[in-house]
Amino acid sequence: MTTTMHREVTSGAPHPAALPRLLRGLRPEGGAVGLGEHLERWGALDLRWVRHHLQPELEDSGLRGHGGAAFPVAAKWRSVAAAGRRPTVILNGAEGEPASAKDALLLARTPHLVLDGAAAAAAALGAGRGVAYVPRHLSDALLAAVGARQRHGLDPVPVEVLEAPPGFISGQESAAVNGVQGRPAVPSFIEIRPIRERGVDGRPTLVHNAETLAHVALVARYGARWFRALGTERNPGTTLLTVSGRPGGPVVQEAAFGTPLREVLGLGPDATRSYQGALLGGYGGTWVTIDTLLGLDLSEDSARSSSATLGAGIVVLLGHDACPLAEVARVVRYMEGESAGQCGPCVHGLAALDEVLQGLAFARQSRANVEAIGELCALVEGRGACRHPDGVARFVTSACAVFASEVAAHLRSGPCRRVGAPSELPFRGRVLRRQGGVAARPR
Ligand SMILES: Cc1cc2nc3c(=O)[nH]c(=O)nc-3n(C[C@H](O)[C@H](O)[C@H](O)COP(=O)(O)O)c2cc1C
Ligand code: SF4
Repeated sequence: MTTTMHREVTSGAPHPAALPRLLRGLRPEGGAVGLGEHLERWGALDLRWVRHHLQPELEDSGLRGHGGAAFPVAAKWRSVAAAGRRPTVILNGAEGEPASAKDALLLARTPHLVLDGAAAAAAALGAGRGVAYVPRHLSDALLAAVGARQRHGLDPVPVEVLEAPPGFISGQESAAVNGVQGRPAVPSFIEIRPIRERGVDGRPTLVHNAETLAHVALVARYGARWFRALGTERNPGTTLLTVSGRPGGPVVQEAAFGTPLREVLGLGPDATRSYQGALLGGYGGTWVTIDTLLGLDLSEDSARSSSATLGAGIVVLLGHDACPLAEVARVVRYMEGESAGQCGPCVHGLAALDEVLQGLAFARQSRANVEAIGELCALVEGRGACRHPDGVARFVTSACAVFASEVAAHLRSGPCRRVGAPSELPFRGRVLRRQGGVAARPR
């Protein structure tokens, strides 16, 4: 670490090792933290310090994006700054992934922390425009929060609140840029220059996930050293996780990177008795066995060492009452319906995968068709304008490996009794375009 202008925090900051950070002071059933309470809890941002020192501080913090790709935040800021013109900052609160709830929770409960992050980015990079791109159900409350900030003169540029349409892909980076420009919120097919150089109206554009901006707001207050007091060298700080499948329903929790996942999830060595597998990273993520899960730490590096990804911080535990192949088939049908339908891999590849998986889960499927799943997945990977088909391929390939014995059983004897069980994996956004498909015939 090279910066000399470290922000040294002596008073007022929460203890650096204390958890939670982003969720500090939020009660399980409470409402939104208003501006007065927010300023009491966190103090106001020092925008003069931010303008001069936040960028190198972020460099030292090692903060990575929380929108799914874990891309280093400072590197993104460097490219935007290097483009040399006043950029646009987009707060991406679309959260199209049905198994994720953390961005909605932050925006609904502690909106000013996220907006502080956007304000800090706008001040540090000299932005000319700020946009909060959020789903309809959050937009009125966010508009009110933005109005309160304007009255207090807290933001360096006025923030517009624009609606992110429902759907899995409307939060993809170029889809968000298109949505902000009033076009259909689908990924751009041809990107001449990266969005960081040429995004909204041809201007350099910084797109960050809502959670990422909330972490930026804390680095802007307490500095890199404070931030690094939790987490690991390569994965510093904390992250929000949306965990579903446990009794009591989905929860959003915060934990330090590097913590053993068994500890974060409260799982004992006998967790295989309760769960048959786990999905990491959501519907573009990876299935892992419970034994693999119990051996992982909470970090993208640890997940990648098992060819998995944490994505936007999503863990779904699958109980034994569910038919994993029915769950997988339903998600693939949903993902096929959610594609923008503008590239071959989605139009043809996902449709073919959908057909094979529907047959495998709910009817009878030939061994040859099932054996072709790997080939179909390989064909769609890396060939779309966005990573949507790659995510589905990862989801399906890992499911076939983790649930190999169920695949063999369905091939041998047809659908099991559990195919009729209600879906454990959640869906939202557009409704499934084609319901059901092949009737379930339990064996
Ligand atoms: C299909 C698809 C959907 C995505 N949806 C979202 C989303 O809803 N919200 C989000 O923040 N990022 C989403 N992303 C990631 C964005 O493209 C982008 O990387 C992210 O907003 C950058 O934020 P970060 O640097 O803070 O991680 C999606 C990516 C893909 C491929
Ligand atoms: S790959 Fe699929 S989701 Fe992505 S832009 Fe093409 S059709 Fe749309």
